[in-house]
Amino acid sequence: MKDESLYLKIGYQPKKSDVICRWYIEPAEGMTLEDAAANTVTESSIGTWTSITTAKKYTQRLAAKVYSIDEKTGIVDTAYPVEAYDPYDISCILASIAGNIFGMKSVNNLRLMDVRLPKEIVNAHYGPAVGIKGIRKLVEVPKRPLIGTIVKPKMGLNTKDHAQVAYDAWVGGVDIVKDDENLTGQAFNPFDKRVKETLKKRDRAERKTGERKMYMANITAATTEEIIRRAEYVHKLGGEYIMIDVCIAGWPALQSLREHNEDLGLVLHAHRAMHAAYTRNEKHGISMLVLSKFLRLCGLDQLHIGSMVGKMVDAGPQSVLRSRDALVLDDVASDEFAVGQKWYGTKPVFPVASGGLHPGHLPYVVRGFGNDVIIQMGGGIHGHPKGTIAGAKAARDMLNAVVEGVPPREYKSKELQQALKTWGIVEDHT
Ligand code: 3PG
Ligand code: 3PG
Ligand code: MG
Repeated sequence: MKDESLYLKIGYQPKKSDVICRWYIEPAEGMTLEDAAANTVTESSIGTWTSITTAKKYTQRLAAKVYSIDEKTGIVDTAYPVEAYDPYDISCILASIAGNIFGMKSVNNLRLMDVRLPKEIVNAHYGPAVGIKGIRKLVEVPKRPLIGTIVKPKMGLNTKDHAQVAYDAWVGGVDIVKDDENLTGQAFNPFDKRVKETLKKRDRAERKTGERKMYMANITAATTEEIIRRAEYVHKLGGEYIMIDVCIAGWPALQSLREHNEDLGLVLHAHRAMHAAYTRNEKHGISMLVLSKFLRLCGLDQLHIGSMVGKMVDAGPQSVLRSRDALVLDDVASDEFAVGQKWYGTKPVFPVASGGLHPGHLPYVVRGFGNDVIIQMGGGIHGHPKGTIAGAKAARDMLNAVVEGVPPREYKSKELQQALKTWGIVEDHT
């Protein structure tokens, strides 16, 4: 049997340079929590299911250690020597702490709850190029939350109609319009044509409203080369933003995009489509908190982290706000769930609340997030009984009501009152 004492070090004090992983572990039948924990760190560091003849003594310095086990909660803390990784290579780190182990027979459930990344890793990365301050300067909105929409239907509109929906939303009052996560380069609305047409409409909307208006084209594509080409194309046409489906595109593509963004200076918006395949089940997979940290490390500027209400299952306000703290604070506290994180000046990421939201959700979302939030509504704007312009105006008027402290039902806006009549006001986490 393998030498468990190499991996079980209860009471070990992690080094500042260790990568700390906090797990929720449910051992398989017949396994103790201690065995399941030892198996987890073995398989995710230098070992395998049995002792091997090829292991050299010097490799043991890279063994991960279990240093705290809570039999009551199933929460296990572990430390991984940073020397085990190429600090700049996110894939290298995840292939270890988020690789084989979720499929091991020694666990019934395994959840990577949180990770603490040491300075050696944080300082090896760019972090966001623009960050919250840079975005506020770009959109010329110093304080209030930002309002965005998504062109709907998600797919299918031709380029001309797509650009028109965007224009209507901008003139109605939204700051930002994005492509939906599943609109990339399909023949019915080709990427280059869509960007060109929609940016033209954006310029017209800016002239008409006197406000800055942003367009986030979805550059998710078949290859990293094409992703980069699309980012460069947006930049060449004067676009300031792009969006990418981060969980689908993958880490090498994101790190290549971020490297190129040193020259482009675009705002990189992260849509998290597919995340729920591993974030949703609170007993298994990888938490949104972990995903949020790696995306800030990599250098995305905006990230959907859930809205606490709406159509997406979020593990409650607390978990959404933990992700928010990991995105915006420089020194993130630890608690019974989170292991904390110092960011050493890495720029903060703008939290995005989206998914099933309508103007009636806005007071609750702003109360929960504070001003540094981008609130996106797709159906909640284009589903307004009087159409997109009215829907965008209703959303903007609701934001004005919240900012000015006017009770929404007393705010003088027929579009807002129509939206409240249609969807009501949501005051709690449902
Ligand atoms: C999210 O935050 O996960 C997404 O915004 C939810 O999906 P949708 O907003 O694309 O509908
Ligand atoms: C998104 O990508 O953020 C969504 O598609 C939001 O759409 P919804 O507001 O209609 O859920
Ligand atoms: Mg979407």
